[in-house]
Amino acid sequence: MLGNFTPEDISYALDTRIIGKKIIYYHSLKSTNDTAKSEAIRGTVEGTVVIAGEQTAGKGRLNRAWYSPKGNIALSVILYPDRKYLPSLIMLASLAVIRSIKQLTGLQAQIKWPNDVLIGEKKVAGILIENRVLGNKLDYAVMGIGVNVNHGAVIFPDLAGVATSLAEELGKTISLIEVVRKILFEMDGLYRLLLEGGSVFKEWRDNLVNLGRRVYLQTDEAILEGLAESVARDGGLMVRGKDGILLKVVSGDVLFHCYDFNPPSRTIRRGIDDH
Ligand code: BTN
Repeated sequence: MLGNFTPEDISYALDTRIIGKKIIYYHSLKSTNDTAKSEAIRGTVEGTVVIAGEQTAGKGRLNRAWYSPKGNIALSVILYPDRKYLPSLIMLASLAVIRSIKQLTGLQAQIKWPNDVLIGEKKVAGILIENRVLGNKLDYAVMGIGVNVNHGAVIFPDLAGVATSLAEELGKTISLIEVVRKILFEMDGLYRLLLEGGSVFKEWRDNLVNLGRRVYLQTDEAILEGLAESVARDGGLMVRGKDGILLKVVSGDVLFHCYDFNPPSRTIRRGIDDH
């Protein structure tokens, strides 16, 4: 099934307690995250999923665009947890995706800090978490997940070498509904684990590809260079610069595909704390 489905196709016998209790499906949408944010402001039930057959203006991290044609997954989940869970939500989403890929396809995906999902060195899924804090309270969190299920670089030549899809890796198409259902199931289990006092940190850390590697980091303001030594429990990447100073970077993107990346002549290093 490549893009036309009903909410019932997803929710039928879906064994979750929080996530997926309400599913809102659109044939075509600009961005599931934007629609999910409107639903959250209207106070929709926790665990509501907004899903689209295709997105026409999908959003990526750091103001990038995200291509989401029919045949790929574009969904957003609305949660209302305590603010203290915010760093764990970032980990939870990528973990749910790699667990699902492993179980459905046998492929071992990994996480590129903070939450890109790769197979080999190519990106197969991306996650965009948006939230609103009112006073001291988290008003809502929207976890947007895009998975290249049936289309990767094949229809986007610009992405050759950096993107892939499950179908490209497997050499055959794969049921989009099954992938959606599995991701919602895994998210539900991980979210409940958090609420019951458990942690997703260790599994997330153990699936990161960056640790022990030299990284170029794109933050909102600068490009940093250093050795990714470890991650903090709040998800921050601990990077040792050439000057020996250890910095915690909490927001940014690892420019990891460095074979076509020319290191900047002027490298600025700084810690950024814009959670
Ligand atoms: C990234 O890797 O930069 C994040 C990509 C996130 C894409 C998903 S698709 C569903 C949701 N709606 C959006 O507009 N973006 C996210």
